[in-house]
Amino acid sequence: MPRTLDPELRRALAARIRYYNEMGIYDFYRRAPVEHAEEVAAAMAVDEAGTTVLEHTLDPGEEMSPRKAAAVARPVPVEENIFEAIALKPEHGVSDPVKALKIIREDLGDCTRCVLHKQGRKQIVFGVGNPKADLMFVGEGPGADEDAQGEPFVGRAGQLLNNMIKAMGITREQVYIANIVKCRPPGNRTPEREECETCSPFLMRQIAVVKPKVVVALGAVAAKTLLAMSASMMQLRGRFYEFRPTGVRSNDPNWDGCKLAVTYHPAFLLRDPRQKGEAWKDLQMVMKELGMKAPAKTLSSDH
Ligand code: URA
Repeated sequence: MPRTLDPELRRALAARIRYYNEMGIYDFYRRAPVEHAEEVAAAMAVDEAGTTVLEHTLDPGEEMSPRKAAAVARPVPVEENIFEAIALKPEHGVSDPVKALKIIREDLGDCTRCVLHKQGRKQIVFGVGNPKADLMFVGEGPGADEDAQGEPFVGRAGQLLNNMIKAMGITREQVYIANIVKCRPPGNRTPEREECETCSPFLMRQIAVVKPKVVVALGAVAAKTLLAMSASMMQLRGRFYEFRPTGVRSNDPNWDGCKLAVTYHPAFLLRDPRQKGEAWKDLQMVMKELGMKAPAKTLSSDH
């Protein structure tokens, strides 16, 4: 039976695991059973081999019980340990990505997890496209059109994104499109960090289900949230990052994350069309990675 954790402790553990994941550490084992959940957060450590362990240090005079000794001797697979509550989501084990995405959508429910639910959203904008897409685009959050239609990137920025996708020689239906936050921020303001952190675990789960080969982060909010790093667009663009969705494991043992590229948000390109050439360079890099043939046409200013 998975243990139920206090939500605050769970959040602290998730943040700690994300931190280790970002350092490239994914394998956790339990060195000794910890009786109280509070001890867990305090007891996490990284051993010399770079493996994260739950360290239970014995108090002076405390003897290790045979049960504890056995636990020390036998690393526990992640499924069996306290991280189960974090690592294994309800869609885990559901091989049909359509069904798995439906489970995530149902889990999201009529979400009230952050303030955006009471700031005028009409509906949750989950994501759209090919559930087995090789290429996934992630934007910031729904605008007015998306909020009205319940689909990401259907307004002016969406038209430009469609043109960008078309310029790559593929169609919108072939890719998967989602956002960092699923509810429209009022007045199209930038989503707050807390809103991004509350909502993005659902996106991480969508990514783990779709298992794309490449994720393209559209703009700084998407890039910074997915990569959990703060840098300028100039610094973020022009290279691939190794990306693994945080806090979730894919069903598929053969999918161990993907590449992530950063490019300009289409709304920014609408404001500054001179940057389209730069965005096109980013997309060409993605096409090369995916083995796609570059069509002769580029992202011209008539898009
Ligand atoms: N901008 C975004 O970031 N996402 C959308 O879905 C639409 C506009």
